[in-house]
Amino acid sequence: MALYAMGDFHLSFTVHKPMDIFGSEWKNHVKKIEKYWNKYVKETDTAVITGDHSWGHNLEECREDLEFIASLPGRKILLRGNHDMFWDAKKTAKLNSLYGERLHFLQNNYFTYEDYALVGTKGYCYEGKDTWEHFEKIRDRELGRLKTSFEEASAAGYEKFIMFLHYPPTSIGETESGFTKMAEEYGAEHVVYSHCHGKARYDDSFHGMVNGVYYHLVSSDYLRFRPERIL
Ligand SMILES: [Fe+2]
Ligand SMILES: [Fe+2]
Repeated sequence: MALYAMGDFHLSFTVHKPMDIFGSEWKNHVKKIEKYWNKYVKETDTAVITGDHSWGHNLEECREDLEFIASLPGRKILLRGNHDMFWDAKKTAKLNSLYGERLHFLQNNYFTYEDYALVGTKGYCYEGKDTWEHFEKIRDRELGRLKTSFEEASAAGYEKFIMFLHYPPTSIGETESGFTKMAEEYGAEHVVYSHCHGKARYDDSFHGMVNGVYYHLVSSDYLRFRPERIL
């Protein structure tokens, strides 16, 4: 039994969006994901896939991409990324009933791994693309969703947490944020995030131990498409 994480598969079996326009490392990236996933992740393992699953705009356009993920070994838990248009946060229960045991969708709920609660939400950081007011609104909504996830797990008696975000936990230049403070407040042992692509963005946020919390960047290109073992 092991816990793995990787994010940003950016699949497009139906909408056919080439990824190698983003750099040579993305050439045949789906083949690399398949190869390394099969090498590392066993059927008895749990893996959290931290968002940006598919370029499809709706469930129909994402179906094949989600089937690809479902076909990989292990118990798969999915988090929402900024590109996951198929996933309305308010309709997460519907996705969970649709995919049953094949895929698990983490939003306003939690899953477990041994005696850990796996909590998370998309998160948000400031990337200079929106007004500060809009940034604060989205960030606060995401902090609320994260708190719901922590609180549900706490109410069920869980005291050990692994926290997952799609966006990095801090905006560039920040030394703390509402997300890092919440991780510290609940005593999360690990914070796992992705979203950052290309060398220029790999150091946007924390790596390693900061204030007692271990931070992992797990964007697929950063990991060279090899899932990272968290526990
Ligand atoms: Fe991404
Ligand atoms: Fe993203």
